Amino acid sequence: MGEVNLQVKLGRLVLQNPVMVASGTFGYGEEYTQLVDLNQLGGIVVKGLSLKPKVGNPPPRLVEVPCGLINAIGLENIGVERFIKEKLPFLKQFKAKIIVNIFGYSPEEYAQLAEILSPTGIDAIEVNISCPNIKEGGRLFGTDPQTAALITKSVCEHTHLPVFVKLSPQVTDIVAIAKAVMEAGADGVSMINTIPAMAVDIHTRRPKLGNVTGGLSGPCLKPIALKLVWEVVKALDIPVIGIGGITCAEDALEFLITGAKAIQIGTANFVNPQTAIEVIAGIRHYLEDCQLKDIHELIGSLELSF
Ligand SMILES: Cc1cc2nc3c(=O)[nH]c(=O)nc-3n(C[C@H](O)[C@H](O)[C@H](O)COP(=O)(O)O)c2cc1C
Repeated sequence: MGEVNLQVKLGRLVLQNPVMVASGTFGYGEEYTQLVDLNQLGGIVVKGLSLKPKVGNPPPRLVEVPCGLINAIGLENIGVERFIKEKLPFLKQFKAKIIVNIFGYSPEEYAQLAEILSPTGIDAIEVNISCPNIKEGGRLFGTDPQTAALITKSVCEHTHLPVFVKLSPQVTDIVAIAKAVMEAGADGVSMINTIPAMAVDIHTRRPKLGNVTGGLSGPCLKPIALKLVWEVVKALDIPVIGIGGITCAEDALEFLITGAKAIQIGTANFVNPQTAIEVIAGIRHYLEDCQLKDIHELIGSLELSF
């Protein structure tokens, strides 16, 4: 059997395979070059960037819990300008597509980030809308269809690049948010971001995180993420990037069969930096075993009759 086709097209973004590494779990790419062949990845989503550098939360910022990790990094990053000067030239030498994750505290900040990043040669923008809207008393942009659409529109109007909006699971109707951001011009959605969580040290009676609360990620997220992906692909005809608790090829296959066109690997990179490479190989083997020549024969092939 000849080489199977793993190439996928997400709106205007073409990936050599559907496997990306998730924002905040792969630094700016450079940190992993000794451990992972970046040429093999479908895409690298870099750590979330803001207009100005951000120091993040007080330590401890990570705590392991059964089947997951709670992080309260606080979106620490070097700022968009330093990223462009110091990190981007290095990343550009690889075949993996460069997707830059951005966040801000007003629609204007998101728009400015999009404008600054547009001419730099990156491949796409991923918009983190799990951020407090300062003007609206700190409610997350991503919890309301109107504000989610407003942010998306601000970004899309200031860039020619493909735009993916990263959805928060902290909503009652994720389909309404996905629909709103697509109508506002997004090429697709990435889902999901972490789920708010907390852990307590019973010996000191203190929170285990300096910030008290954080975001839960890792294997415990997978069934929740899969269900949310299913809701969106069932209701809307849009490219979905599945994220949440993927640790192996079987996990990734569940998302693809459910209808995600691509996936991202997050927390698993901390356990085994080779996870993404192993997932790509595992997807290829699965397709060969099933005698499928093209990944598209698998995407959305969920069989509902028992
Ligand atoms: C330490 C850490 C930092 C993260 N930073 C970001 C970030 O800057 N921007 C963002 O959109 N998501 C961020 N995330 C969320 C991940 O990209 C991903 O959506 C989430 O962890 C679920 O995937 P996973 O279970 O495979 O880790 C972060 C996650 C972790 C664990």
